[in-house]
Amino acid sequence: MNNATILLGSRRDKDGIEQPVSLKTSALTTHAAIFGATGSGKTGLIIGMIEDMVRLGVPVAAIDIKGDLANLALQPSGSDVRDKMAIRFLTPGADHGEAVNIFSGIANPDRITSTVSTLCKMLGVESDPLRSKPHSFISTIIQWRLRANKPVTIIDIMQDIADPPFEYLGVLPLEDVFPAASRGKLAAKLNNIVAAPSFQSWREGIDINIDKLFSAKPGKTPVVIFSVAHLVDDAERIFAISMFLEEMVSWMRKQPGVNDLKSCLLLDEMYGVMPPHPANPPTKKPLLTMLKQARAHGLGVVICSQNPMDVDYKGMSNAQTWLVGRLQTERDRDRVVAGICSATTQEERTMGSSISRLQPRQFLVVRPTGTAIFNTKDCQASLQGPMSPNEIRELFQTGIAEELGTMDKLALLLDNCRAAFEANQTDANWKALEEVQVAIDAEAGRRGH
Ligand SMILES: Nc1ncnc2c1ncn2[C@@H]1O[C@H](COP(=O)(O)OP(=O)(O)OP(=O)(O)O)[C@@H](O)[C@H]1O
Ligand SMILES: [Mg+2]
Repeated sequence: MNNATILLGSRRDKDGIEQPVSLKTSALTTHAAIFGATGSGKTGLIIGMIEDMVRLGVPVAAIDIKGDLANLALQPSGSDVRDKMAIRFLTPGADHGEAVNIFSGIANPDRITSTVSTLCKMLGVESDPLRSKPHSFISTIIQWRLRANKPVTIIDIMQDIADPPFEYLGVLPLEDVFPAASRGKLAAKLNNIVAAPSFQSWREGIDINIDKLFSAKPGKTPVVIFSVAHLVDDAERIFAISMFLEEMVSWMRKQPGVNDLKSCLLLDEMYGVMPPHPANPPTKKPLLTMLKQARAHGLGVVICSQNPMDVDYKGMSNAQTWLVGRLQTERDRDRVVAGICSATTQEERTMGSSISRLQPRQFLVVRPTGTAIFNTKDCQASLQGPMSPNEIRELFQTGIAEELGTMDKLALLLDNCRAAFEANQTDANWKALEEVQVAIDAEAGRRGH
């Protein structure tokens, strides 16, 4: 795929002839940063890029914060993208898309430190692994369970906090380091979260397993949209995104070294995800890690924001491709130009003034090899803007998202319900399990099996 390109749009040459403007896929492995005011055409640009990646067979994970990316599934019938795309729409904490077990990564030995830090933040206790007693206690519980080949769920952890299966933390007696009373308080805090009705929806659903999410039938390109647009609470959004990004990092580390684009992660509107120092939400570290290391694994990262002041300066200067649309304030333009110029050798002043003259859907592309102003191509999807949960449910249950057949979905649901019942043998869980079984029988009957 070394000569493959992604078409961004076109520009008029000096003779007034339209010339295509495209990006080599290999260029995307050094990441792209998109900036532009609202309405400048960023989401259209991103959706157009994803469509080309679908055509090229490059698996895509996209984090949707504003709720526009479901539009990608609004493909005209018979279109090449529609035929090739195996799209999944994940909705942590809700079920209008595929519900997600946000804690699935908790049993991943590569991720214990970061998952436990996030958990500590949720619990409102010290989260720094070097200073936090709850951190070392919970991490030890997870390690103990992994070594003993026991399941690691949030419920198991809670039970072990209350009734630890070991007596020493490191070389010191647990009772000295973390006495029973403190353990009780910690367990109660975790129980408050786990017992909240809304929490149930956070731990029921598919695992965030990038290997599985990135596998599709031969000839199809997986596209995974991880949408947090329905979450109103900023902390919940950041928490969900951090769990996804952490999973991406550990998946990335397992990918062989390559020098072309093998997969792509896009963030459409990264408000609050990678803010400037000293802010340090749990999303920042994994994203920075990918911006620094993903290239070697063929994972391209595309970040996008309306507001350059909200994005960590060092993080954004890891991108070697800049796509800059109209920016109204001088402050925003200066910020972007400063970021670009630290990465390339472009002339600062002319750049600032060309950015201020851009029209909607016009972008300045800056690469180490040169710059150009272009108009974005029309994407094939119909850009209708944010969709309601009901519209999304409808689209992904009856539309092209049927890639996972109804039976596969039911089988998945059955696994989840069975696990829920095994973990917690309540009447409600039993009823849910029975309902899925009935639905499976009905579906089998419908198909004449
Ligand atoms: N590539 C495109 N193909 C077709 N229509 C487009 C394209 N890009 C933009 N548009 C049109 O322009 C409108 C605004 O563009 P878009 O949503 O991409 O802006 P944006 O920069 O993402 O704005 P915001 O920051 O508010 O998310 C779209 O709703 C759509 O109608
Ligand atoms: Mg947008």
